[in-house]
Amino acid sequence: MHLDRLQRRALDAMGIQVWESVAAPAADVPAVEPAGAPAPAGTDARQAPVAARSGAARQAAGAWEALEAEVRHCTRCALAASRTQTVFGVGNRDADWMVIGEAPGAEEDRQGEPFVGRAGQLLNQMLRAVGQSREQVYIANILKCRPPNNRDPKPEEIAACRDYLQRQIELVSPQLLLAVGRIAAQALLQTDAPVGRLRGRVHRLAPGGLPLVVTYHPAYLLRSPAQKRKAWEDLRLARSLLR
Ligand code: URA
Repeated sequence: MHLDRLQRRALDAMGIQVWESVAAPAADVPAVEPAGAPAPAGTDARQAPVAARSGAARQAAGAWEALEAEVRHCTRCALAASRTQTVFGVGNRDADWMVIGEAPGAEEDRQGEPFVGRAGQLLNQMLRAVGQSREQVYIANILKCRPPNNRDPKPEEIAACRDYLQRQIELVSPQLLLAVGRIAAQALLQTDAPVGRLRGRVHRLAPGGLPLVVTYHPAYLLRSPAQKRKAWEDLRLARSLLR
């Protein structure tokens, strides 16, 4: 594996040392795990012939605008009353990687952008370690509004927000999803299994559907740096899935 300067710096920040060999063995890719939820539909505008692309791109831009406005005015659950603003998502709408976190925290609620606090800085480093920048990927959360005092999202809040994320996934049409943390992993896979059991393998949102890799939440990694090595393994697994 060849590492460039930015990746090396990101790995240092994650506290991970990597020995490079000239002919490094390929990462072991564990078996693919099918899971419950339906695969997102959606056409891949990136594959469209040039003549058709401008129409498709215009349609996609309209769909993004409509979805963003719908989220901005959402009152589907009680979090609408306590939020400063909704936190829709950020990044490349044509991304290969889509990162899904839990919910906005205080800083995200203030700035209107996901993962802008300390956890966000570590997330940026984690992405950089596998050659992805924050601008290259698309980042969204399970919830678009901050739960007060950073409490866990309630099942009814997750249910109310589910369709927004589903539509974001369809619009981005990424090659893979990276679920960071327990809430994102459990909500996407509709399970109550702990992250320790979900990470380290490839799930699919439906048999033959979008690949999903689970890893630890960067806020957890800030509290438990010994787990960063496992997060690094998960990120390498995710990277190995890209076409
Ligand atoms: N944690 C999350 O899961 N999402 C954010 O946007 C910020 C912190």
